[in-house]
Amino acid sequence: MAKGKILITGGTGYIGSHTVVELFNAGYEPIIIDNLSNSNISVLDGIKAITGHSVIYENIDCKDYNSLERFLEKHPEIVAIAHFAASKSVGESVENPLLYYRNNIVSLINLLQLMPKFGIKNIVFSSSCTVYGQPDVLPVTEKSPIKPATSPYGSTKQMCETILYDFTHANKDINVVLLRYFNPIGAHPSGEIGELPNGIPNNLLPYITQTAAGIRKELSVFGNDYDTPDGSCIRDYINVVDLAKAHVVALNRLIDGKNEKNIEVFNLGTGSGVSVLEIINAFEKATGVKVPYKIAPRRPGDIEKVWADTSLANKELGWSSKETLEDTLRSAWNWQKKLEEKNSVTNG
Ligand code: UD1
Repeated sequence: MAKGKILITGGTGYIGSHTVVELFNAGYEPIIIDNLSNSNISVLDGIKAITGHSVIYENIDCKDYNSLERFLEKHPEIVAIAHFAASKSVGESVENPLLYYRNNIVSLINLLQLMPKFGIKNIVFSSSCTVYGQPDVLPVTEKSPIKPATSPYGSTKQMCETILYDFTHANKDINVVLLRYFNPIGAHPSGEIGELPNGIPNNLLPYITQTAAGIRKELSVFGNDYDTPDGSCIRDYINVVDLAKAHVVALNRLIDGKNEKNIEVFNLGTGSGVSVLEIINAFEKATGVKVPYKIAPRRPGDIEKVWADTSLANKELGWSSKETLEDTLRSAWNWQKKLEEKNSVTNG
């Protein structure tokens, strides 16, 4: 008997799919809606290969209020939502801001509007360290100031947080955990699921693995003249399975009524900052594969350095990141190699 049904919006996406696996492992029954705008239906096979479960899935866009309502009518046992469905490319959001405001904000509003109607009291929301902008003091704590967003994507995350604060203020029986992710990387150790960007990757790790695999000629390191020890930007790279496990803990906390306030916020990172050049070196050391790279101009909108103070998540959630950077980079490479194998089989 499953512990409860959890609605996973964006469950075929990168973080969503890893969370689905961890929820099955924890005895929950996750069910997925996704419009496949930036993911692939084959992810469901990966989830089945790892967990043995055929997950319930429907192609639904969270912007479509009526479809969402019909889906919830069919699943009255849902006890919580983990809301991953969102657009997440910083650059694309600058080019097409309305797409981001519509996708990210309308989806959240629709879900919140339907929660009371279906008696769903708990929601975990995917926020981002982007809400801190370039912090004055590092590491950042949950109390660090929210700085003006540097992209429409960042604005949507800030606005969604505000919407959730206002909504929980007005609806005291709705409980929210806001999780501010730092930079999720890596893949499931089985190599069955991982990050699957459409087209040319924007994010560092898929670009590195595709370059190592020979799909891309070389990686561009965006800037080596930052005020950091080696001049390249610093981020806090968190293993995606560790990140997925934090969602299970957050959902347990809400479902068991252990939350102290009806809206809580936690940073999810490792607590350590790593530069782009250090990531390249660590990847080469962990995998034995060279990553050709060149130094390129700074990328507009990039933040110089940011890493997390994770003591609140350690203390309140009893969660901390466990995987080493080397193992995480190896898992990303393992996933890339498996993808190549699958593609070569499919392409004959
Ligand atoms: C940003 C957001 C993050 C968001 C993510 C979604 C910030 C601080 N972070 O992550 O909240 O969830 O987008 O996509 O706003 N890099 C290269 N070459 C490349 C690609 C990246 O040098 O080809 C560098 C970037 O300059 C950066 C680091 O690698 O320093 C990480 O970049 P990326 O993976 O794109 O993530 P962020 O921009 O940090």
